[in-house]
Amino acid sequence: MASSQLFPLSSTFYRLSLLSRLSLPFALTRLNPPRQKSGQQMTRVRSPLLPSSICLSASNLSTSPSPCRAVSNYDDLLVLGIETSCDDTAAAVVRGNGEILSQVVSSQADLLALYGGVAPKMAEEAHAKVIDRVVQDALDKAKIGEADLSAVAVTIGPGLSLCLRVGVQKARNIAGRFVKPVVGVHHMEAHALVARLVKQELEFPFMTLLISGGHNLLVLARDLGQYVQLGTTIDDAIGEAYDKTAKWLGLDMRKSGGPAIEELAREGDPHSVKFSTPMKQHKDCNFSYAGLKTQVRLAIESRKINAEIPISLASVEDRCSRANIAASFQRVAVLHLEERCERAIDWAMDIEPSIKYLVVSGGVASNQYVRARLNDVVRRKDLQLVCPPPSLCTDNGVMVAWTGIEHFRMGRFDPPPPADEPDDIVYDLRPRWPLGEEYDKGRSEARSLRKARIHPSLTSMIQASLKEQA
Ligand code: KG4
Ligand code: ZN
Repeated sequence: MASSQLFPLSSTFYRLSLLSRLSLPFALTRLNPPRQKSGQQMTRVRSPLLPSSICLSASNLSTSPSPCRAVSNYDDLLVLGIETSCDDTAAAVVRGNGEILSQVVSSQADLLALYGGVAPKMAEEAHAKVIDRVVQDALDKAKIGEADLSAVAVTIGPGLSLCLRVGVQKARNIAGRFVKPVVGVHHMEAHALVARLVKQELEFPFMTLLISGGHNLLVLARDLGQYVQLGTTIDDAIGEAYDKTAKWLGLDMRKSGGPAIEELAREGDPHSVKFSTPMKQHKDCNFSYAGLKTQVRLAIESRKINAEIPISLASVEDRCSRANIAASFQRVAVLHLEERCERAIDWAMDIEPSIKYLVVSGGVASNQYVRARLNDVVRRKDLQLVCPPPSLCTDNGVMVAWTGIEHFRMGRFDPPPPADEPDDIVYDLRPRWPLGEEYDKGRSEARSLRKARIHPSLTSMIQASLKEQA
């Protein structure tokens, strides 16, 4: 295929039962319902359109090798997840029952520290350098080979195109050589759904707050692939504000800015610097962190803090001053989350009164102060907080593999690519890909939001495919 042609990575991803009508080199076969693990609920997959139990089978194949090992049970699925949307190269192997067989992450912390942010070209090169090793490590640690996989899941958006491409190319290369289906994954959906791996009884609908370096989303998860966006950021995400504050305070960025601020903030007085809470006058669920960043920068300048002097060499007085800024910034940044979350829960309750959980995920959700404050919010609202462990909050391959499993079980995947797919092909990457449809009450007039709406949302695509089949 010519490189100018767009390869529809997820052309069949959303077609559900249409798959049986496609002339793919494999067939869907109904099998016995999956075994129920003791104490595990198997009611999680509940779409009226879902075949009671489907699985890829080699039985109708006239060609070999088989597209995937015949799997008699969803629990036995083996999915490789690949994540390269930003600055972490990650891969993992997860079993259909949620067992994590391996998890490997190679971070670009040195680059982050050097540039104070993600430089796309450098990040792409760094991914390309380590992707083979990361994936091989994940397979080795899981003690399996590519041939044992049921499918390969890979993040196709949102994220940096150059970076996404590295992961997609690797995934399709494996899938092509070993005749495996591919599941294209939405990065933010993966952050949310990994909570269902961690907490098996977490059923739709539930509320979600996704907080990372590039996203701040309040979302009502109604069903797999179906989300209502109650709020988003009109400028920067909270992780970006943590990272910049850390950089301006001269902190060690090698573990990214968030953990450095969290640690230093423990030494400071959170009420010592008066920062104002963003968007107080806007009674919606959107976020803004650009103004808080400016307040922090001005506070640092007025105290004559020199970021060139690393915190480790700062005087006692200087360190105390930096700690006070870190603590005060964190208090207000999180207060903004708390206020928006409270309102979003009220809105979500109007739409789906049965919700019981607030899932908080994404890199910033690994912060203990954030968790504690949000736990207070959910208790006031009579909900429960679900926060994946830190290693599953920051970017990882497990969340991609798991989301792949969830969609695969619904019959949403691409057929195996050709084994000889050229490397210069133009993939269907979705750098700006909204997760859900905006809730009317939460609609923002901010220009940045309109600009970001480039690809149709995951939810609208799923809904269109469901309608097509109705
Ligand atoms: O989800 P993630 O790993 O990557 C993106 O999709 O952006 O999130 C990375 C962000 C960074 O901004 C990082 O500083 C922040 O998560 N982060 C934290 C903590 N750990 C990571 N922020 C606050 N406290 C933490 N402990
Ligand atoms: Zn992320």
